[in-house]
Amino acid sequence: MNRNTDFIAFARPSLGEEEEEAVLRVLRSGWLTTGSETLSFEREFGEFVGTPHALAVNSATSGLHLALEAIGIGPGDVVATSPYTFTSTAAVVRHLGAEVAFCDVAPGSYNIDLDSLGRLLSTTKNCRAIIAVHVGGLPCDMRSIRALAKRYGCALVEDAAHSFPSVTEEGYAGTLGDVGVYSFYATKTITTGEGGMLVTKDDRVAARAEKMRMHGFDRAAWDRYTAKKASWRYAVTEAGFKYNMPDLLAAIGRVQLRKANRFLEERRAIAEVYDAAFSGVPGLELPPRGEGHAWHLYSLRTRSDRGGVARDDLVEALSERGVGSSVHFIPLHTMPYYAERYRLTPESFPNASSMFERTLSLPIWQGMGVGVAERVAEAVLEITGVPGSHSRRDV
Ligand SMILES: Cc1ncc(COP(=O)(O)O)c(C=O)c1O
Repeated sequence: MNRNTDFIAFARPSLGEEEEEAVLRVLRSGWLTTGSETLSFEREFGEFVGTPHALAVNSATSGLHLALEAIGIGPGDVVATSPYTFTSTAAVVRHLGAEVAFCDVAPGSYNIDLDSLGRLLSTTKNCRAIIAVHVGGLPCDMRSIRALAKRYGCALVEDAAHSFPSVTEEGYAGTLGDVGVYSFYATKTITTGEGGMLVTKDDRVAARAEKMRMHGFDRAAWDRYTAKKASWRYAVTEAGFKYNMPDLLAAIGRVQLRKANRFLEERRAIAEVYDAAFSGVPGLELPPRGEGHAWHLYSLRTRSDRGGVARDDLVEALSERGVGSSVHFIPLHTMPYYAERYRLTPESFPNASSMFERTLSLPIWQGMGVGVAERVAEAVLEITGVPGSHSRRDV
């Protein structure tokens, strides 16, 4: 492979003529902002995951902010989560003037550790909510987390940014707590470029989030965006946010939603290629697995102590061979803001730190195809020094 012209991207959206036609339809309709497309997207998404309330927002970050606000999180409250996540999960807690309390991830996992969470809840005053993050698309053990939430009187929010369309025997990840939030950011399995969806069964939470999503308008004012007979009259009853999704993006989301199960199949096939190539290789550790993996990420780990190469060297060598990769995540307890505010060091959460030091995410996207996945796998094996892997410089 020519490394300059045939670079294998870490992530790529799958957009075709149907998405283009949907955007053109909205452009020509004369109605660009939130309207009938968004309402249809919400209805179709809600039916897909099986939830009575689905609210389209302009990002998962906004959705998480709305979720915590609707639950009533504010100054003096504490929200528990794991540091193995993107900053949004914790930043929205700070936006509301509350504090974040971190606990570790489980050994060998990117998801929250139940013992560590239990200890945190038993020693933290005013902990009002838990945010469970389904890292990479692997659902957390929601039954056990729900039991802990109930025991300590906490609301349970799912950061489901990675986990569409993860489905477990209990239902879709994102619908297994009090509120769930999905992301449709450009690298996500279904995308609207930027966007997200808040889902809940709770009528009160839905009504509050709906109002706060749109400037704190009363319901009648919100209706003026969609009603046939628009009125100029509105009342502001809260100091709300501007977090709505425009029809232009919702139209893309509706098409992507129809393809979601096919996208998942394609991603699964790529994960299977990687699993087959890497299983039993002493210098590599396969991603954790479990029921309902969405395979948003394929996060491999290196074992330089068992003959593998260091993570940074593998990232570098893959890049030289024209293969993109990424690292999920640099844990929040090592980020200056959280480390300073909560006096944390890498040793505070040894499991999260150990996972971070060794992890890298390989290309996985629909449209990539198993042939390309085989070439990526071959490059990883060659760099890791696995006997029998091809010794070509380029994949
Ligand atoms: C775990 C997690 N939560 C939340 C977000 C925020 O998503 P968005 O970019 O849609 O705001 C991300 C972004 O990638 C994420 O990885």
